Amino acid sequence: MNNKKTIFSGIQPSGALTLGSYLGAIKNWVEMSKNYNCYYCIVDMHAITVRHTPAELRRRTLEQLAQYIACGLDPEKNTIFIQSHVSAHAELCWVLSCYAMFGELSRMTQFKDKSAKNVDNINAGLFTYPVLMAADILLYNADLVPVGSDQKQHVELARDIANRFNGVYGDVFTMPEPYIPKVGARIMSLSNPEKKMSKSDEDTGGCVYLMQSPEEIMRNFKRAVTDSETSIRYDAENKPGISNLIQIYSAVSGKTFKEIEEEFAGRGYGDFKAAVGEAVVEMWCPIREEAQRIMKDKAYLEAVYRQGAQRAEYVAGKTLRKVYKKLGFVAR
Ligand code: TYM
Repeated sequence: MNNKKTIFSGIQPSGALTLGSYLGAIKNWVEMSKNYNCYYCIVDMHAITVRHTPAELRRRTLEQLAQYIACGLDPEKNTIFIQSHVSAHAELCWVLSCYAMFGELSRMTQFKDKSAKNVDNINAGLFTYPVLMAADILLYNADLVPVGSDQKQHVELARDIANRFNGVYGDVFTMPEPYIPKVGARIMSLSNPEKKMSKSDEDTGGCVYLMQSPEEIMRNFKRAVTDSETSIRYDAENKPGISNLIQIYSAVSGKTFKEIEEEFAGRGYGDFKAAVGEAVVEMWCPIREEAQRIMKDKAYLEAVYRQGAQRAEYVAGKTLRKVYKKLGFVAR
């Protein structure tokens, strides 16, 4: 073992990978993988809390694995795995659900949003979703959890659950911290900049997907909703569309908002939208091609997820055994 800190994060294979997940999460995972012990998961068990198509889930899970690798996550240096392959996640989830309170789970904004969207299927899994997420994080004693700002509340809940458990049984779990990027933590929909860009959005014009063709990406950027002014200036409250585009351009190019405002001073919205679209296309082109290439190599993908599950199982199993012992379960 080394003394690097540990990172855990995951993405649901519930839809195609969007620019939101890329800038809010994966881009940082790649940076952080240089200096941390990293566990990057494809959280397929989280993806069944809303009705889904099995064949599509299977395809998306493998596609997401290929995308993780294509984005620059080396499976030799990072533990990349599929959540349902490591049964400790479900087991710890049950234990932690006895230490998570009904009231706190009811206050989760994602639960409230998702139950409003799925009124005919407000199942218990949707409600205990953040407990499974806490299990994901705590099994690996993660110090940091790189996520977009929408997941901050869930990571804070994981801390509360860990604290409660540690309060009873001693120092079992490491206290995780959310790691939210300064720029890119909340990418908004291009068609409705008041709303978060989301892979489950039915209005696909508001989303940009990693596997889309350059033409489709450019078209969505060119149609991005802006405002009736003409100045390219960051003002999230009054100019949400332009501010979202500035945020995207900044996250992609590394330029500050001020540098971007200066670069585009006196130029029109059309020019700016095209420039942001081109920057995204350029960033993603090699990644998309690499993901397509890896997708075809089923044997390689299988070797990667098997190795990942083995490594993850070893660490997760140790934590679970410790938890079971503390609880007074008789050892097998
Ligand atoms: P998910 O699958 O909805 O999103 C994956 C990651 O992408 C970030 N993200 C965004 N960031 C910026 N702007 C956006 N528009 C945007 N949309 C998504 C999310 O914040 C997230 O980091 N519950 C999690 C998955 C999960 C997880 C975990 C994460 C399960 N277990 C343990 C961390 C640790 C989720 O639904 O993310």
